[in-house]
Amino acid sequence: MLTSFLLEDWLEEHAESMPEFSLGGSTGPAWTLRSLLELDGPSSLERMLRSDVLYSRAAGSTELREAIAQMQRVPVEHVLVMTGAAEALSHIFSAAAQPGANVIVSAPCFPPYNAVPRALGLEVREYRLRRETLYEIDLDEIRRLTDSQTKLILVNSPHNPTGSIIADEAMEALHDFAVERGVQLVCDEVYHPIYHGTAMACASRLASATVVGDLSKAFALSGLRVGWIVEPNKRRRDFYLTAREYCTVSNSPVTEFLGEIAVRHRQAILERTREVAQTNLRLLEPVLDEHAGVVGWVRPRGGMTAFPWLVSGTDSRSFCDRAAAHGLLFAPGDCFGVRDHFRIAFGVGRDWYPAAMQRLGELLSACPDSP
Ligand SMILES: Cc1ncc(COP(=O)(O)O)c(C=O)c1O
Repeated sequence: MLTSFLLEDWLEEHAESMPEFSLGGSTGPAWTLRSLLELDGPSSLERMLRSDVLYSRAAGSTELREAIAQMQRVPVEHVLVMTGAAEALSHIFSAAAQPGANVIVSAPCFPPYNAVPRALGLEVREYRLRRETLYEIDLDEIRRLTDSQTKLILVNSPHNPTGSIIADEAMEALHDFAVERGVQLVCDEVYHPIYHGTAMACASRLASATVVGDLSKAFALSGLRVGWIVEPNKRRRDFYLTAREYCTVSNSPVTEFLGEIAVRHRQAILERTREVAQTNLRLLEPVLDEHAGVVGWVRPRGGMTAFPWLVSGTDSRSFCDRAAAHGLLFAPGDCFGVRDHFRIAFGVGRDWYPAAMQRLGELLSACPDSP
């Protein structure tokens, strides 16, 4: 049975009357359809209007697959287009679902990481990302959790919700371990390449890794519902394609057309996300530091979300309710299984982020634990 998706429920609850500053999500700064098309010049609209509105190919249009393959530096046949990374993850977990099997995922994590495999009857083993160790992965912990029934190890870097990253050497060590043990390593890279310090290499350089990417997060085009799997293993690729043929058939040729434009113009798109996220992170930092008696945090090293905690140790839900009444939408920590934390987005609101930070400062100053 699938359990409730608390994060989606919370966001949905506030969708009708959205608080003034919406910091509950995790994407970058939005694009209008017009601004996306303009990146490609005047002829692109006409080309789009001329295309047939029919099914696309199950693996994705050739043009989009080629653009993704070129970006990821992999052979085009390794790329399968999906309806978002969400669909990619579902098929990856389905392929792992065998009696007695287990999968290894992080805690906290993007909620489907444990809800979906549990619903498929898989045992879910969690490695913890602890604030005391800057939310870094502990390779030994992952090694200890792995046994002969482990089907996959899933990592997410940059990480939602904590903003932690996995250093290239650690990723390579994990890849070597997974290969040695015959376990699939899945790297969810939907926040790559948004880093706030040293940039990390793309996981598709790892010969045996399954890489999940999308246009929703770093590209900030979540409405296209375009994601992908880079899968070097042919047997797995065949499974994912079959699963997609049964469940989704194909993406829309309209969104694949737009997706291809986005991938080709990635430099401009990613630079905009980086610029907004880094500017906003610099605004968030002093507000949280100034209220260290109320909130603690680890400065994110990638992605577009921070995951502070209430120093009092209390459940953040009532704090998030108060924040919403004050015009600030955050995501409560219980959505990620960590009650005293909450998630703040910093990839959106280039124009209004300073005002939102002022409001956050007022809210934190009014907290009972404020000095
Ligand atoms: C780590 C991670 N993976 C995958 C997804 C799914 O994204 P989408 O289906 O929009 O591509 C999300 C969305 O929040 C995410 O945070």
